Amino acid sequence: MKKKIRYNINAGFGQDNGTYRMQSADIKGILALLKTEKDTLLSYKNLDFFKTDIDKDKLNSMVNTGDKNVMSGIIQCLNTENVFELSNRKYLGSKSNLLSFIGPVIVQNAGKNIESFFDPFAGTGVVSRWMQQYADRVIANDILFSNYLGLKVFLTSSREEVSVLKLKNFITCLNALEPVRGYVFTNFAGTYFTDHNAGKIEAIREEISQLYREKKCTLHEKNALLLSLLYAMDKCANTVGQYDAFLKHIGSAVMTGGKHKIDSNVYKPITLRRPFFFFDNRNKAYQCDANQLANSIKAEVTYLDPPYNHRQYINCYHLLENIMLWDKPITLGKTRKFSRDHLKSDYSRKSKAVKRFAELINSLMCRHIFLSYNSEGIIQDKDICTILKTRGRLEIFEKKYTIFGHGAGVSKKRPVTERLFHVKVEKN
Ligand SMILES: C[S@@+](CC[C@H](N)C(=O)[O-])C[C@H]1O[C@@H](n2cnc3c(N)ncnc32)[C@H](O)[C@@H]1O
Repeated sequence: MKKKIRYNINAGFGQDNGTYRMQSADIKGILALLKTEKDTLLSYKNLDFFKTDIDKDKLNSMVNTGDKNVMSGIIQCLNTENVFELSNRKYLGSKSNLLSFIGPVIVQNAGKNIESFFDPFAGTGVVSRWMQQYADRVIANDILFSNYLGLKVFLTSSREEVSVLKLKNFITCLNALEPVRGYVFTNFAGTYFTDHNAGKIEAIREEISQLYREKKCTLHEKNALLLSLLYAMDKCANTVGQYDAFLKHIGSAVMTGGKHKIDSNVYKPITLRRPFFFFDNRNKAYQCDANQLANSIKAEVTYLDPPYNHRQYINCYHLLENIMLWDKPITLGKTRKFSRDHLKSDYSRKSKAVKRFAELINSLMCRHIFLSYNSEGIIQDKDICTILKTRGRLEIFEKKYTIFGHGAGVSKKRPVTERLFHVKVEKN
């Protein structure tokens, strides 16, 4: 597998008077070839996998001058194990697999030189990350703190605020901590995590707070360490990626009677890696209600990806949010959720979604509005269209794909249509 990829990479070099030169078009071509290895490498901004972290300006100048280091960085990245990047997270409704549809539609309609890109329901931030290649700055927001951390660290880090060397050292120390029986153990051991990992999470989370309290790290470094913990917890959690339930079988062998019972990662000791930094401090990250924030953000392009069904994101990610906030609230029920009404979204409530959506569209200060909304969403198509048309000319782009489950049986795939609505704003 690796051999084949290397061959393809070499095929991406162009020779010019005996010296190798690379154009940005080559890089895109090469990254497209790399798609078989990692979808996320599709855009050159996803050179995040570089062993050495990189600045946006530096990367642009490397691309423009045809610097060969860009290529060696890509090759190195394939062997890099000790960093993680934004798209390494499984997230409900993530647009990671739809970027090849959404990204080009945005660029074709809004152009390749976008001054600012606003992503008020940013989740993991994959869409903002993709748009960094065409937007001078991105403004990303999510109502959950656990998501805000990712947006803040991945999109807004600067070399002044983060010492990569310091982080590497902290992470080595955090990984070596002994388990401690406390809040995480009492609430989440034996269900979501093994006893050992629950104890380690406790020790690591406490130590991160302590490092910051003792001013041994900056707030930005603390956020980066918390994000490392979040991604590491996600990897060893006994779930399908969401925390509204945990799986049975913790304690049983990975394989029993020839059947796969449990993900072997659940039993591996939790191991933190550090985020890969793409330094670009022109961007902004917020943790707000999208409707409130929209009143104060002016941006050329707004991309809306609100929840479209009744599943509340905070129910699916309560555990991550709980440990990131670290207020140690009382948890209730089998799934050990904390009291979280203030984090529930009106976009997942039939009685409120249309009204909130109308208010949001009315308040946006931008030239283009793009909206992702699934064909099975709470807000009816006729309402979406009526509301969007209040701001200008509407066009709808569609992509059909298949998903598993939801009544069709777990083994059966069924077709769904992803729609991207575009309004060229005429009425301000
Ligand atoms: C469909 S997901 C977005 C996925 C994202 N585009 C990605 O690719 O990862 C919707 C997001 O909206 C957030 N959300 C829900 N209601 C919100 C609100 N009122 N304001 C801000 N964010 C909200 C959820 O926490 C969730 O992360």
